[in-house]
Amino acid sequence: MVNVQQALEQKRMTEVRQETPRQPTQGAVAEPASPTAVGIDDLSLWYGHKRALTNVSLSFGERKVSALIGPSGCGKSTLLRSINRMNDLIAGVRIEGRVNYHGINIYDRSVDPVEVRRRIGMVFQKPNPFPKTIYENVAFGAKVNGFKGNMDELVESCLRRAALWDEVKDEYKKKSGLALSGGQQQRLCIARALANQPDVILMDEPCSALDPIATLKIEDLMRELVKDYTIIIVTHNMQQAARVSDYTAFMLTDEHITGQLIEYGPTEELFTTPKDKRTEDYISGRFG
Ligand SMILES: Nc1ncnc2c1ncn2[C@@H]1O[C@H](COP(=O)(O)OP(=O)(O)OP(=O)(O)O)[C@@H](O)[C@H]1O
Ligand SMILES: [Mg+2]
Repeated sequence: MVNVQQALEQKRMTEVRQETPRQPTQGAVAEPASPTAVGIDDLSLWYGHKRALTNVSLSFGERKVSALIGPSGCGKSTLLRSINRMNDLIAGVRIEGRVNYHGINIYDRSVDPVEVRRRIGMVFQKPNPFPKTIYENVAFGAKVNGFKGNMDELVESCLRRAALWDEVKDEYKKKSGLALSGGQQQRLCIARALANQPDVILMDEPCSALDPIATLKIEDLMRELVKDYTIIIVTHNMQQAARVSDYTAFMLTDEHITGQLIEYGPTEELFTTPKDKRTEDYISGRFG
């Protein structure tokens, strides 16, 4: 999408650096052009006494790929897990603020976190298929959710959407999900998430355990899926963020504030004309 390499080279060649004053976070946060799928509103999170997110506000656009980038420990996974209440499963977590999804704050007492996780699916860093057949892996969530339609059709359509069907169609009812390659396992996990019929898919470094070819396949798949789904991805790989995402959010923990959003905007703008000096330093490899 954006030739990040070129942009970074240009930056390195431009030696004249203007010290931009520290801007308040909100000044560097652009609203995405499309309707909002998930709106984070003044979100803070603590693990016990330790704060991990500080007053984060941003809106993820519908049917867009949004990337979360930033150095290790800045709160990317924490923010991602807040979007489908996965942090609820960790003892001692306290949350303030709101995560709005279809006009509902998913942290409202009336909201069922299980339903939230069905609508907002998640794919993890390490592919984690169940020790079951490929078919059963995909059918599992749908069965649990009481899916009443044609299961064979659902499984096939999810495997097709996850770009895995052609590779497994001859043996998917017999072969274990664990017998697939790492890249295939990750696409199986995507198919499994799709079978729950979500509209948002969260991905936490989904390619970090994969080789470059398997990575490109997942990236192509993301661009295909985003026609119908909203995708929010955490990545350490800035080239990947530039290749797959429409919007990028840069997060940082510094000596004063933990887990803050520094800048958010269209990916191309963030990588070519960052508004905040700290974003510029990070994308040009000065830290992290
Ligand atoms: N389950 C937990 N219990 C206590 N502290 C946690 C827990 N998970 C994360 N943290 C802390 O919260 C902060 C943010 O962690 P998080 O995992 O969100 O960072 P990250 O940006 O995803 O990092 P990485 O790029 O290394 O995955 C870190 O200081 C981390 O140690
Ligand atoms: Mg993480």
